Amino acid sequence: MTEAEKGLEWIEAATNIHTNYPRMMSGPVEGKLLNLLTKISRSRNAIEIGTFTGYSAACIALALPEDGHLDTLEIDDELEDIIREGWRRCGVENRISLHIGDAAATLPSLKGPYDLAFIDADKDSYITYYEAIMPILSPGGLIIADDVQLGGRWTKALQEFNDHIKNDPRVEVVILPLRDGISIIRKKG
Ligand SMILES: C[S@@+](CC[C@H](N)C(=O)[O-])C[C@H]1O[C@@H](n2cnc3c(N)ncnc32)[C@H](O)[C@@H]1O
Repeated sequence: MTEAEKGLEWIEAATNIHTNYPRMMSGPVEGKLLNLLTKISRSRNAIEIGTFTGYSAACIALALPEDGHLDTLEIDDELEDIIREGWRRCGVENRISLHIGDAAATLPSLKGPYDLAFIDADKDSYITYYEAIMPILSPGGLIIADDVQLGGRWTKALQEFNDHIKNDPRVEVVILPLRDGISIIRKKG
């Protein structure tokens, strides 16, 4: 097992032990998908909304080139110790900037351009995040949105988000029924 794989296992264990909602973590299958999409798209600069304990961020960062960079945004400052220790174990701490605070407030200060974006925070704001990212996403860049088929109290917000994407002529999209649904959106150009 590589140091990075051991680091990812450490994040999983720490998340299960120290957080109330460990299911929020993407985990190995979705993590590998993010890792491969980052490689396949040859992304150099990436952005993530919703870091949680840093699992998906580590999976994306591990696929970036040496001079690549990931900006990741998280509102909960109590997660920072786990996040930073996991990234150190995975060897990606120098490739990631953690921005603590409300993503809607942080996003206007980030200029990109990004090749890949992962949206995985509060579902009510998915359209806001999407529209903030589109102008700073490279042509041909990817937006991956998690939990787009999640039910319960998020059903309406996510339906609106899915309709918004479907009717947006700037992009093409496929929804994969993995876990609670993942949209892979490509900006044309
Ligand atoms: C589903 S979890 C992210 C999981 C993570 N991407 C992973 O795969 O392990 C959602 C995260 O979004 C964060 N979040 C919720 N609202 C936010 C906001 N307005 N700004 C930034 N982060 C937010 C939550 O604190 C939570 O940690």
